[in-house]
Amino acid sequence: MIALYVAVARNTVERISMRFGRINHRNMFRLLIMTMVVSLVTLFIFGRQYSRLYMSTNYSIHPGHKTQGEVELDRREIGMKPLALPDVSTSKEQAIEVERNAPDGTVCVEKHRVAFPKLHKVGGNTIKEVLHHFGFKRRLSFLLPLPFNNSGLYPWNLKPEAYLPPQGGAYDILTYHTVYDSATFHQIMPEDTVYITIFREPLSHLKSTMNFYGLPERWGITGDTPVSTFLADPGKYDPKLNYYRKYPVAFSRNSMAIDLGFPLKYLKKVMPKDVNTPEQIKSLVDAYVSQIEKDFHLVMIMEHFDESMVLFRRMMCWDLQDILYFKENSQSYLYKHENIAPELVQSHRKWTPVDYGLYDHFNRTFYERISQQTPDFWDEVRHLKELNKQMHDHCDRGLGNPPLTVPATKWNKEFQIDDEFCLLATMNFNCYYALYAERNALDRKLAERPSLTPTTLSQKDFKNVENMWPLFRNYCVWCGRVKKYCRPQDYLMHLKYEGLIKVE
Ligand SMILES: *[C@@H]1O[C@H](CO)[C@@H](O)[C@H](O)[C@H]1NC(C)=O
Ligand SMILES: *[C@@H]1O[C@H](CO)[C@@H](O)[C@H](O)[C@H]1NC(C)=O
Ligand SMILES: *[C@@H]1O[C@H](CO)[C@@H](O)[C@H](O)[C@H]1NC(C)=O
Repeated sequence: MIALYVAVARNTVERISMRFGRINHRNMFRLLIMTMVVSLVTLFIFGRQYSRLYMSTNYSIHPGHKTQGEVELDRREIGMKPLALPDVSTSKEQAIEVERNAPDGTVCVEKHRVAFPKLHKVGGNTIKEVLHHFGFKRRLSFLLPLPFNNSGLYPWNLKPEAYLPPQGGAYDILTYHTVYDSATFHQIMPEDTVYITIFREPLSHLKSTMNFYGLPERWGITGDTPVSTFLADPGKYDPKLNYYRKYPVAFSRNSMAIDLGFPLKYLKKVMPKDVNTPEQIKSLVDAYVSQIEKDFHLVMIMEHFDESMVLFRRMMCWDLQDILYFKENSQSYLYKHENIAPELVQSHRKWTPVDYGLYDHFNRTFYERISQQTPDFWDEVRHLKELNKQMHDHCDRGLGNPPLTVPATKWNKEFQIDDEFCLLATMNFNCYYALYAERNALDRKLAERPSLTPTTLSQKDFKNVENMWPLFRNYCVWCGRVKKYCRPQDYLMHLKYEGLIKVE
Protein backbone atom coordinates (compact mmCIF):
# COMPACT_ATOMS: atom_id res chain seq x y z
CA MET A 1 0.00 0.00 0.00
CA ILE A 2 2.75 2.44 1.00
CA ALA A 3 4.69 1.49 -2.11
CA LEU A 4 1.69 2.42 -4.15
CA TYR A 5 1.52 5.83 -2.53
CA VAL A 6 5.25 6.39 -3.08
CA ALA A 7 4.79 5.53 -6.75
CA VAL A 8 1.85 7.90 -7.10
CA ALA A 9 3.72 10.64 -5.26
CA ARG A 10 6.84 10.19 -7.42
CA ASN A 11 4.73 10.32 -10.52
CA THR A 12 3.10 13.54 -9.32
CA VAL A 13 6.45 15.10 -8.54
CA GLU A 14 7.76 14.16 -11.97
CA ARG A 15 4.79 15.70 -13.64
CA ILE A 16 5.14 18.87 -11.61
CA SER A 17 8.83 19.11 -12.38
CA MET A 18 8.17 18.58 -16.05
CA ARG A 19 5.75 21.42 -15.92
CA PHE A 20 7.91 23.85 -13.99
CA GLY A 21 11.19 22.58 -15.34
CA ARG A 22 13.41 24.00 -12.61
CA ILE A 23 12.70 22.03 -9.43
CA ASN A 24 15.86 20.64 -7.91
CA HIS A 25 16.19 17.20 -6.34
CA ARG A 26 16.03 18.43 -2.78
CA ASN A 27 12.68 20.15 -3.27
CA MET A 28 11.43 17.16 -5.13
CA PHE A 29 12.30 14.98 -2.15
CA ARG A 30 10.51 17.32 0.26
CA LEU A 31 7.44 17.30 -1.91
CA LEU A 32 7.54 13.53 -2.02
CA ILE A 33 7.70 13.25 1.78
CA MET A 34 4.87 15.76 2.19
CA THR A 35 2.67 13.86 -0.23
CA MET A 36 3.36 10.64 1.63
CA VAL A 37 2.45 12.19 4.98
CA VAL A 38 -0.81 13.56 3.59
CA SER A 39 -1.64 10.18 2.06
CA LEU A 40 -0.95 8.31 5.29
CA VAL A 41 -3.12 10.68 7.31
CA THR A 42 -5.92 10.24 4.78
CA LEU A 43 -5.54 6.49 4.93
CA PHE A 44 -5.59 6.57 8.73
CA ILE A 45 -8.75 8.66 8.91
CA PHE A 46 -10.64 6.57 6.36
CA GLY A 47 -9.38 3.36 7.88
CA ARG A 48 -10.71 4.37 11.25
CA GLN A 49 -14.12 5.34 9.91
CA TYR A 50 -14.23 2.09 8.09
CA SER A 51 -13.35 -0.12 11.04
CA ARG A 52 -15.66 1.82 13.33
CA LEU A 53 -18.51 0.86 11.07
CA TYR A 54 -17.97 -2.75 11.93
CA MET A 55 -16.60 -2.67 15.41
CA SER A 56 -19.18 -0.47 17.01
CA THR A 57 -22.90 -0.73 17.52
CA ASN A 58 -22.92 3.06 17.41
CA TYR A 59 -23.68 3.43 13.73
CA SER A 60 -24.42 7.11 13.88
CA ILE A 61 -21.49 8.02 11.62
CA HIS A 62 -23.91 7.84 8.76
CA PRO A 63 -25.37 11.33 8.34
CA GLY A 64 -29.14 11.40 8.53
CA HIS A 65 -29.25 8.33 10.70
CA LYS A 66 -29.97 8.98 14.30
CA THR A 67 -28.56 6.72 16.95
CA GLN A 68 -31.10 4.57 18.67
CA GLY A 69 -30.69 6.65 21.80
CA GLU A 70 -31.52 9.87 20.02
CA VAL A 71 -34.66 8.44 18.49
CA GLU A 72 -35.94 7.52 21.88
CA LEU A 73 -35.01 10.72 23.61
CA ASP A 74 -37.08 12.58 21.06
CA ARG A 75 -40.09 10.48 21.83
CA ARG A 76 -39.74 10.42 25.53
CA GLU A 77 -39.24 14.05 26.22
CA ILE A 78 -42.76 14.72 25.06
CA GLY A 79 -45.42 15.44 27.67
CA MET A 80 -43.45 15.15 30.91
CA LYS A 81 -44.96 16.97 33.81
CA PRO A 82 -43.55 17.10 37.35
CA LEU A 83 -43.54 13.81 39.13
CA ALA A 84 -46.37 12.93 41.47
CA LEU A 85 -45.24 11.08 44.50
CA PRO A 86 -45.38 7.31 44.17
CA ASP A 87 -45.40 5.28 47.34
CA VAL A 88 -42.03 3.59 47.15
CA SER A 89 -42.48 1.35 50.14
CA THR A 90 -45.27 -0.58 48.46
CA SER A 91 -44.16 -0.35 44.84
CA LYS A 92 -40.66 -1.69 45.40
CA GLU A 93 -40.84 -5.42 45.02
CA GLN A 94 -38.21 -7.57 46.58
CA ALA A 95 -36.38 -10.36 44.85
CA ILE A 96 -38.00 -12.99 46.99
CA GLU A 97 -39.69 -16.16 45.88
CA VAL A 98 -43.01 -15.21 44.39
CA GLU A 99 -45.56 -17.94 43.80
CA ARG A 100 -48.37 -17.74 41.29
CA ASN A 101 -51.00 -19.93 39.77
CA ALA A 102 -49.90 -21.28 36.43
CA PRO A 103 -52.47 -21.50 33.60
CA ASP A 104 -52.84 -25.25 34.08
CA GLY A 105 -53.85 -24.79 37.73
CA THR A 106 -50.51 -25.73 39.30
CA VAL A 107 -48.41 -23.33 41.36
CA CYS A 108 -45.21 -21.93 39.85
CA VAL A 109 -42.35 -19.85 41.25
CA GLU A 110 -41.28 -16.67 39.49
CA LYS A 111 -37.98 -17.08 37.63
CA HIS A 112 -35.40 -14.31 37.58
CA ARG A 113 -32.51 -15.48 35.48
CA VAL A 114 -32.53 -14.81 31.74
CA ALA A 115 -29.90 -14.90 29.01
CA PHE A 116 -31.03 -13.00 25.93
CA PRO A 117 -28.21 -12.64 23.40
CA LYS A 118 -29.58 -9.67 21.53
CA LEU A 119 -29.59 -9.97 17.74
CA HIS A 120 -29.80 -6.94 15.47
CA LYS A 121 -33.07 -5.71 13.95
CA VAL A 122 -35.42 -8.31 15.40
CA GLY A 123 -37.34 -6.31 18.00
CA GLY A 124 -34.73 -7.10 20.66
CA ASN A 125 -34.77 -3.64 22.22
CA THR A 126 -38.39 -4.06 23.21
CA ILE A 127 -37.58 -7.28 25.06
CA LYS A 128 -34.51 -5.70 26.59
CA GLU A 129 -36.71 -2.92 27.96
CA VAL A 130 -39.10 -5.46 29.48
CA LEU A 131 -36.14 -7.14 31.18
CA HIS A 132 -34.83 -3.76 32.34
CA HIS A 133 -38.18 -2.83 33.84
CA PHE A 134 -38.57 -6.19 35.57
CA GLY A 135 -34.99 -6.23 36.86
CA PHE A 136 -35.08 -2.66 38.13
CA LYS A 137 -37.99 -3.31 40.48
CA ARG A 138 -36.40 -6.49 41.81
CA ARG A 139 -32.84 -5.17 42.00
CA LEU A 140 -31.50 -7.95 39.79
CA SER A 141 -27.90 -8.15 38.73
CA PHE A 142 -27.28 -7.33 35.05
CA LEU A 143 -24.19 -8.26 33.12
CA LEU A 144 -23.04 -4.78 32.08
CA PRO A 145 -20.30 -3.82 29.64
CA LEU A 146 -17.72 -1.57 31.33
CA PRO A 147 -19.27 1.89 31.65
CA PHE A 148 -19.97 3.12 29.03
CA ASN A 149 -18.69 1.05 26.21
CA ASN A 150 -22.02 0.12 24.60
CA SER A 151 -20.29 -2.16 22.13
CA GLY A 152 -17.89 -3.52 24.72
CA LEU A 153 -19.32 -7.03 24.46
CA TYR A 154 -19.82 -6.99 20.70
CA PRO A 155 -18.75 -8.73 18.60
CA TRP A 156 -17.77 -11.88 20.47
CA ASN A 157 -16.19 -10.19 23.44
CA LEU A 158 -17.26 -11.80 26.69
CA LYS A 159 -13.87 -11.49 28.32
CA PRO A 160 -14.14 -10.76 32.04
CA GLU A 161 -12.17 -7.54 31.62
CA ALA A 162 -14.89 -6.23 29.27
CA TYR A 163 -17.75 -6.26 31.81
CA LEU A 164 -18.46 -5.37 35.43
CA PRO A 165 -18.48 -8.01 38.17
CA PRO A 166 -21.95 -9.01 39.34
CA GLN A 167 -23.85 -7.57 42.26
CA GLY A 168 -24.51 -10.13 44.94
CA GLY A 169 -22.21 -12.81 43.57
CA ALA A 170 -23.99 -13.88 40.37
CA TYR A 171 -25.57 -12.45 37.25
CA ASP A 172 -29.32 -12.64 36.78
CA ILE A 173 -29.76 -11.11 33.35
CA LEU A 174 -27.61 -10.91 30.23
CA THR A 175 -29.21 -8.72 27.58
CA TYR A 176 -26.55 -6.51 26.01
CA HIS A 177 -25.36 -6.97 22.42
CA THR A 178 -22.93 -9.83 22.14
CA VAL A 179 -22.37 -12.87 19.96
CA TYR A 180 -23.84 -16.03 21.42
CA ASP A 181 -21.35 -18.65 22.41
CA SER A 182 -22.77 -21.59 24.30
CA ALA A 183 -19.69 -22.54 26.35
CA THR A 184 -18.93 -19.02 27.55
CA PHE A 185 -22.55 -18.21 28.30
CA HIS A 186 -22.94 -21.32 30.39
CA GLN A 187 -19.75 -20.50 32.25
CA ILE A 188 -20.87 -16.97 33.09
CA MET A 189 -24.56 -17.48 33.78
CA PRO A 190 -25.85 -19.62 36.66
CA GLU A 191 -27.32 -23.00 35.92
CA ASP A 192 -30.96 -21.99 36.41
CA THR A 193 -30.78 -19.38 33.64
CA VAL A 194 -33.53 -19.39 31.02
CA TYR A 195 -32.23 -18.88 27.47
CA ILE A 196 -34.39 -16.95 25.03
CA THR A 197 -33.95 -15.51 21.56
CA ILE A 198 -36.10 -14.09 18.78
CA PHE A 199 -36.10 -14.39 14.98
CA ARG A 200 -37.67 -12.32 12.26
CA GLU A 201 -38.84 -13.30 8.79
CA PRO A 202 -35.59 -12.96 6.78
CA LEU A 203 -36.92 -10.78 3.96
CA SER A 204 -38.41 -8.29 6.38
CA HIS A 205 -35.15 -8.49 8.36
CA LEU A 206 -33.23 -7.56 5.20
CA LYS A 207 -35.47 -4.56 4.52
CA SER A 208 -35.16 -3.33 8.08
CA THR A 209 -31.37 -3.73 8.04
CA MET A 210 -31.09 -1.92 4.70
CA ASN A 211 -33.12 0.96 6.07
CA PHE A 212 -31.48 1.21 9.49
CA TYR A 213 -27.90 1.18 8.25
CA GLY A 214 -28.60 3.13 5.06
CA LEU A 215 -27.32 0.25 2.93
CA PRO A 216 -28.83 1.30 -0.45
CA GLU A 217 -26.74 4.49 -0.33
CA ARG A 218 -23.66 2.59 0.72
CA TRP A 219 -24.21 0.04 -1.98
CA GLY A 220 -24.84 2.76 -4.55
CA ILE A 221 -28.35 1.50 -5.27
CA THR A 222 -30.88 4.09 -6.42
CA GLY A 223 -34.52 3.81 -7.49
CA ASP A 224 -37.77 2.88 -5.79
CA THR A 225 -37.12 -0.86 -5.48
CA PRO A 226 -33.72 -1.16 -3.81
CA VAL A 227 -34.51 -4.56 -2.28
CA SER A 228 -35.27 -6.13 -5.65
CA THR A 229 -32.21 -4.48 -7.18
CA PHE A 230 -30.07 -5.94 -4.43
CA LEU A 231 -31.61 -9.40 -4.63
CA ALA A 232 -31.15 -9.56 -8.39
CA ASP A 233 -27.40 -9.70 -7.79
CA PRO A 234 -26.55 -9.70 -4.08
CA GLY A 235 -22.95 -10.78 -4.66
CA LYS A 236 -22.34 -7.63 -6.64
CA TYR A 237 -23.18 -5.36 -3.69
CA ASP A 238 -22.67 -7.13 -0.45
CA PRO A 239 -18.96 -8.07 -0.53
CA LYS A 240 -18.33 -4.39 0.09
CA LEU A 241 -19.91 -4.78 3.50
CA ASN A 242 -19.24 -8.35 4.44
CA TYR A 243 -16.29 -8.77 6.74
CA TYR A 244 -17.21 -11.87 8.60
CA ARG A 245 -13.99 -13.55 7.60
CA LYS A 246 -12.47 -11.50 10.37
CA TYR A 247 -15.37 -10.42 12.56
CA PRO A 248 -18.73 -12.08 13.19
CA VAL A 249 -20.63 -9.20 11.62
CA ALA A 250 -22.75 -9.33 8.49
CA PHE A 251 -25.50 -7.12 7.15
CA SER A 252 -27.32 -9.18 4.57
CA ARG A 253 -26.05 -12.72 4.73
CA ASN A 254 -26.97 -15.08 7.59
CA SER A 255 -26.75 -12.13 9.93
CA MET A 256 -29.17 -13.47 12.56
CA ALA A 257 -27.25 -16.76 12.60
CA ILE A 258 -23.90 -14.99 12.88
CA ASP A 259 -25.12 -12.90 15.85
CA LEU A 260 -26.23 -16.18 17.34
CA GLY A 261 -22.78 -17.65 16.99
CA PHE A 262 -22.96 -19.62 13.75
CA PRO A 263 -19.33 -20.76 13.35
CA LEU A 264 -17.54 -18.54 10.87
CA LYS A 265 -15.52 -21.45 9.56
CA TYR A 266 -18.74 -22.97 8.17
CA LEU A 267 -19.85 -19.88 6.29
CA LYS A 268 -18.08 -20.85 3.08
CA LYS A 269 -19.75 -24.24 3.26
CA VAL A 270 -23.25 -22.79 3.20
CA MET A 271 -22.64 -20.73 0.09
CA PRO A 272 -24.02 -22.23 -3.11
CA LYS A 273 -21.00 -23.35 -5.10
CA ASP A 274 -20.14 -26.38 -7.16
CA VAL A 275 -18.49 -27.99 -4.15
CA ASN A 276 -21.48 -27.42 -1.85
CA THR A 277 -24.56 -29.36 -2.91
CA PRO A 278 -27.97 -28.28 -1.60
CA GLU A 279 -28.01 -31.46 0.50
CA GLN A 280 -24.67 -30.63 2.14
CA ILE A 281 -25.86 -27.10 2.89
CA LYS A 282 -29.11 -28.41 4.33
CA SER A 283 -27.41 -30.89 6.63
CA LEU A 284 -25.09 -28.20 8.04
CA VAL A 285 -28.01 -25.83 8.59
CA ASP A 286 -30.09 -28.58 10.21
CA ALA A 287 -27.29 -29.48 12.60
CA TYR A 288 -26.99 -25.85 13.65
CA VAL A 289 -30.75 -25.47 14.07
CA SER A 290 -30.92 -28.46 16.40
CA GLN A 291 -28.02 -27.04 18.43
CA ILE A 292 -29.98 -23.81 18.94
CA GLU A 293 -33.09 -25.80 19.76
CA LYS A 294 -31.17 -27.63 22.47
CA ASP A 295 -29.68 -24.47 23.98
CA PHE A 296 -32.73 -22.19 24.01
CA HIS A 297 -35.79 -22.64 26.17
CA LEU A 298 -37.88 -20.30 24.08
CA VAL A 299 -37.43 -18.98 20.56
CA MET A 300 -39.75 -16.08 19.88
CA ILE A 301 -40.98 -14.86 16.52
CA MET A 302 -41.11 -11.15 15.86
CA GLU A 303 -44.14 -11.45 13.57
CA HIS A 304 -46.00 -12.88 16.59
CA PHE A 305 -44.65 -10.62 19.25
CA ASP A 306 -47.58 -10.64 21.67
CA GLU A 307 -47.94 -14.41 21.45
CA SER A 308 -44.20 -14.66 22.10
CA MET A 309 -44.45 -12.47 25.17
CA VAL A 310 -47.32 -14.52 26.60
CA LEU A 311 -45.32 -17.72 26.10
CA PHE A 312 -42.41 -16.03 27.80
CA ARG A 313 -44.56 -14.88 30.74
CA ARG A 314 -45.95 -18.36 31.23
CA MET A 315 -42.53 -19.98 31.08
CA MET A 316 -41.10 -17.48 33.57
CA CYS A 317 -44.13 -17.54 35.87
CA TRP A 318 -44.37 -13.74 35.74
CA ASP A 319 -47.39 -11.49 36.18
CA LEU A 320 -49.00 -10.05 33.05
CA GLN A 321 -48.04 -6.54 34.22
CA ASP A 322 -44.38 -7.55 33.87
CA ILE A 323 -44.58 -7.93 30.09
CA LEU A 324 -46.37 -4.69 29.14
CA TYR A 325 -44.17 -2.83 26.69
CA PHE A 326 -43.62 0.26 24.59
CA LYS A 327 -42.49 -0.77 21.13
CA GLU A 328 -38.94 0.32 20.32
CA ASN A 329 -37.43 1.48 17.06
CA SER A 330 -40.34 0.92 14.71
CA GLN A 331 -39.72 3.03 11.63
CA SER A 332 -41.52 3.52 8.37
CA TYR A 333 -39.63 3.89 5.10
CA LEU A 334 -40.36 3.79 1.40
CA TYR A 335 -39.48 0.19 0.57
CA LYS A 336 -40.85 -1.40 3.75
CA HIS A 337 -43.69 -2.91 1.72
CA GLU A 338 -41.80 -3.38 -1.53
CA ASN A 339 -43.16 -6.39 -3.39
CA ILE A 340 -40.51 -8.97 -4.11
CA ALA A 341 -40.93 -11.34 -7.08
CA PRO A 342 -40.98 -15.05 -6.14
CA GLU A 343 -37.74 -15.80 -8.01
CA LEU A 344 -35.99 -13.05 -6.05
CA VAL A 345 -37.26 -14.54 -2.80
CA GLN A 346 -35.70 -17.81 -3.96
CA SER A 347 -32.44 -16.04 -4.62
CA HIS A 348 -32.64 -14.56 -1.11
CA ARG A 349 -33.10 -18.07 0.29
CA LYS A 350 -29.91 -19.17 -1.45
CA TRP A 351 -28.07 -16.09 -0.36
CA THR A 352 -28.86 -16.48 3.34
CA PRO A 353 -29.74 -20.15 3.92
CA VAL A 354 -28.97 -20.37 7.63
CA ASP A 355 -31.31 -17.53 8.55
CA TYR A 356 -34.08 -19.15 6.51
CA GLY A 357 -33.33 -22.52 8.08
CA LEU A 358 -33.67 -21.01 11.56
CA TYR A 359 -36.79 -19.06 10.75
CA ASP A 360 -38.64 -21.87 8.98
CA HIS A 361 -37.94 -24.30 11.76
CA PHE A 362 -38.73 -22.08 14.71
CA ASN A 363 -41.76 -20.53 13.09
CA ARG A 364 -43.12 -24.05 12.75
CA THR A 365 -42.32 -25.16 16.29
CA PHE A 366 -43.69 -21.86 17.60
CA TYR A 367 -47.11 -22.80 16.27
CA GLU A 368 -46.77 -26.26 17.75
CA ARG A 369 -45.94 -24.76 21.12
CA ILE A 370 -49.00 -22.52 21.04
CA SER A 371 -51.19 -25.49 20.22
CA GLN A 372 -50.01 -27.09 23.47
CA GLN A 373 -51.09 -24.13 25.62
CA THR A 374 -54.19 -24.09 27.78
CA PRO A 375 -57.32 -22.96 25.89
CA ASP A 376 -57.22 -19.47 27.46
CA PHE A 377 -53.99 -18.64 25.57
CA TRP A 378 -55.66 -16.43 22.98
CA ASP A 379 -57.74 -14.68 25.65
CA GLU A 380 -54.54 -13.81 27.41
CA VAL A 381 -52.99 -12.48 24.18
CA ARG A 382 -56.04 -10.29 23.63
CA HIS A 383 -55.85 -9.08 27.22
CA LEU A 384 -52.17 -8.21 26.80
CA LYS A 385 -52.96 -6.14 23.69
CA GLU A 386 -55.75 -4.37 25.56
CA LEU A 387 -53.60 -3.60 28.62
CA ASN A 388 -50.76 -2.38 26.42
CA LYS A 389 -53.16 0.03 24.78
CA GLN A 390 -54.43 1.26 28.14
CA MET A 391 -50.87 1.76 29.34
CA HIS A 392 -49.95 3.72 26.19
CA ASP A 393 -53.02 5.93 26.50
CA HIS A 394 -52.36 6.55 30.15
CA CYS A 395 -48.61 7.16 29.97
CA ASP A 396 -48.80 9.26 26.79
CA ARG A 397 -50.86 11.80 28.71
CA GLY A 398 -47.74 12.56 30.73
CA LEU A 399 -46.95 12.29 34.39
CA GLY A 400 -48.93 13.64 37.32
CA ASN A 401 -52.28 12.08 36.48
CA PRO A 402 -54.24 9.92 38.92
CA PRO A 403 -53.10 6.30 38.59
CA LEU A 404 -55.05 3.79 36.55
CA THR A 405 -56.13 0.73 38.53
CA VAL A 406 -56.10 -2.49 36.53
CA PRO A 407 -58.39 -5.16 37.97
CA ALA A 408 -57.11 -8.65 38.69
CA THR A 409 -57.57 -11.44 36.15
CA LYS A 410 -56.35 -15.01 36.16
CA TRP A 411 -53.12 -13.74 34.56
CA ASN A 412 -52.43 -10.76 36.79
CA LYS A 413 -53.10 -9.47 40.25
CA GLU A 414 -54.61 -6.02 40.62
CA PHE A 415 -52.05 -3.32 39.91
CA GLN A 416 -51.71 0.37 39.23
CA ILE A 417 -50.31 2.09 36.20
CA ASP A 418 -48.92 5.11 37.99
CA ASP A 419 -46.09 7.55 37.28
CA GLU A 420 -43.47 5.07 38.36
CA PHE A 421 -44.87 2.40 36.06
CA CYS A 422 -44.86 4.87 33.14
CA LEU A 423 -41.33 6.00 33.89
CA LEU A 424 -40.00 2.46 34.03
CA ALA A 425 -41.86 1.45 30.87
CA THR A 426 -40.53 4.38 28.86
CA MET A 427 -37.05 4.90 30.30
CA ASN A 428 -34.32 5.22 27.69
CA PHE A 429 -32.17 2.10 27.66
CA ASN A 430 -29.04 4.20 27.99
CA CYS A 431 -30.52 5.61 31.19
CA TYR A 432 -31.13 2.09 32.47
CA TYR A 433 -27.54 1.27 31.62
CA ALA A 434 -26.31 4.32 33.58
CA LEU A 435 -28.53 3.58 36.59
CA TYR A 436 -27.50 -0.09 36.67
CA ALA A 437 -23.87 0.96 36.53
CA GLU A 438 -24.49 3.32 39.46
CA ARG A 439 -26.21 0.56 41.40
CA ASN A 440 -23.35 -1.78 40.66
CA ALA A 441 -20.84 0.77 41.95
CA LEU A 442 -22.93 1.44 45.03
CA ASP A 443 -23.50 -2.22 45.83
CA ARG A 444 -19.87 -3.07 45.40
CA LYS A 445 -19.00 0.04 47.42
CA LEU A 446 -16.86 1.39 44.62
CA ALA A 447 -18.66 4.67 44.34
CA GLU A 448 -16.67 7.78 44.97
CA ARG A 449 -19.76 9.80 45.46
CA PRO A 450 -19.65 13.15 47.11
CA SER A 451 -22.31 11.93 49.48
CA LEU A 452 -24.07 8.83 50.75
CA THR A 453 -26.17 10.78 53.23
CA PRO A 454 -29.88 10.64 52.44
CA THR A 455 -31.72 13.87 51.75
CA THR A 456 -35.22 14.34 53.05
CA LEU A 457 -37.60 16.11 50.74
CA SER A 458 -41.10 17.32 51.32
CA GLN A 459 -44.04 16.70 49.04
CA LYS A 460 -43.73 20.31 47.87
CA ASP A 461 -40.12 19.85 46.73
CA PHE A 462 -41.22 17.26 44.21
CA LYS A 463 -43.01 19.86 42.15
CA ASN A 464 -39.58 21.20 41.37
CA VAL A 465 -38.01 18.08 39.95
CA GLU A 466 -36.71 19.81 36.80
CA ASN A 467 -34.44 21.89 39.01
CA MET A 468 -33.01 19.06 41.06
CA TRP A 469 -29.73 18.53 39.18
CA PRO A 470 -27.70 20.39 41.81
CA LEU A 471 -29.07 17.94 44.40
CA PHE A 472 -28.50 14.94 42.09
CA ARG A 473 -24.87 15.97 41.70
CA ASN A 474 -24.37 14.98 45.33
CA TYR A 475 -25.10 11.40 44.42
CA CYS A 476 -24.38 10.64 40.79
CA VAL A 477 -21.26 8.75 39.78
CA TRP A 478 -21.53 9.28 36.01
CA CYS A 479 -23.34 12.59 36.12
CA GLY A 480 -22.84 13.58 32.48
CA ARG A 481 -24.18 10.29 31.26
CA VAL A 482 -27.14 10.41 33.62
CA LYS A 483 -27.97 13.96 32.65
CA LYS A 484 -27.79 13.11 28.94
CA TYR A 485 -30.01 10.04 28.97
CA CYS A 486 -32.21 10.17 32.08
CA ARG A 487 -35.14 12.40 32.77
CA PRO A 488 -34.88 14.06 36.19
CA GLN A 489 -37.85 11.94 37.26
CA ASP A 490 -35.87 8.80 36.39
CA TYR A 491 -32.97 9.78 38.57
CA LEU A 492 -35.22 10.80 41.42
CA MET A 493 -36.87 7.39 41.28
CA HIS A 494 -33.45 5.75 41.29
CA LEU A 495 -32.38 7.70 44.39
CA LYS A 496 -35.56 6.70 46.18
CA TYR A 497 -34.95 3.05 45.35
CA GLU A 498 -31.43 3.41 46.73
CA GLY A 499 -32.77 5.03 49.91
CA LEU A 500 -30.80 8.22 49.22
CA ILE A 501 -33.90 10.37 49.02
CA LYS A 502 -36.49 10.14 51.70
CA VAL A 503 -39.88 11.75 51.72
CA GLU A 504 -41.62 13.27 54.66
C1 LIG B 1 -21.70 7.69 19.14
O1 LIG B 1 -21.75 8.61 18.08
C2 LIG B 1 -21.97 9.94 18.47
C3 LIG B 1 -22.17 10.80 17.24
O2 LIG B 1 -21.15 10.58 16.30
C4 LIG B 1 -20.81 10.40 19.35
O3 LIG B 1 -21.02 11.73 19.76
C5 LIG B 1 -20.72 9.49 20.55
O4 LIG B 1 -19.62 9.83 21.34
C6 LIG B 1 -20.61 8.04 20.12
N1 LIG B 1 -20.69 7.18 21.29
C7 LIG B 1 -19.85 6.18 21.53
C8 LIG B 1 -20.09 5.38 22.76
O5 LIG B 1 -18.93 5.89 20.78
C1 LIG C 1 -14.74 -1.15 24.18
O1 LIG C 1 -14.66 -2.55 24.29
C2 LIG C 1 -13.93 -3.16 23.25
C3 LIG C 1 -14.04 -4.65 23.42
O2 LIG C 1 -13.81 -5.04 24.72
C4 LIG C 1 -12.48 -2.69 23.29
O3 LIG C 1 -11.74 -3.28 22.24
C5 LIG C 1 -12.46 -1.19 23.15
O4 LIG C 1 -11.15 -0.72 23.28
C6 LIG C 1 -13.34 -0.55 24.21
N1 LIG C 1 -13.42 0.87 23.95
C7 LIG C 1 -13.16 1.77 24.89
C8 LIG C 1 -13.32 3.20 24.47
O5 LIG C 1 -12.83 1.46 26.02
C1 LIG D 1 -45.11 -19.60 9.87
O1 LIG D 1 -45.80 -20.80 10.16
C2 LIG D 1 -47.20 -20.77 9.89
C3 LIG D 1 -47.84 -22.04 10.39
O2 LIG D 1 -47.18 -23.15 9.91
C4 LIG D 1 -47.43 -20.53 8.40
O3 LIG D 1 -48.81 -20.43 8.13
C5 LIG D 1 -46.75 -19.23 8.01
O4 LIG D 1 -46.84 -19.03 6.62
C6 LIG D 1 -45.28 -19.24 8.40
N1 LIG D 1 -44.74 -17.92 8.14
C7 LIG D 1 -43.75 -17.71 7.30
C8 LIG D 1 -43.39 -16.29 7.08
O5 LIG D 1 -43.15 -18.61 6.74
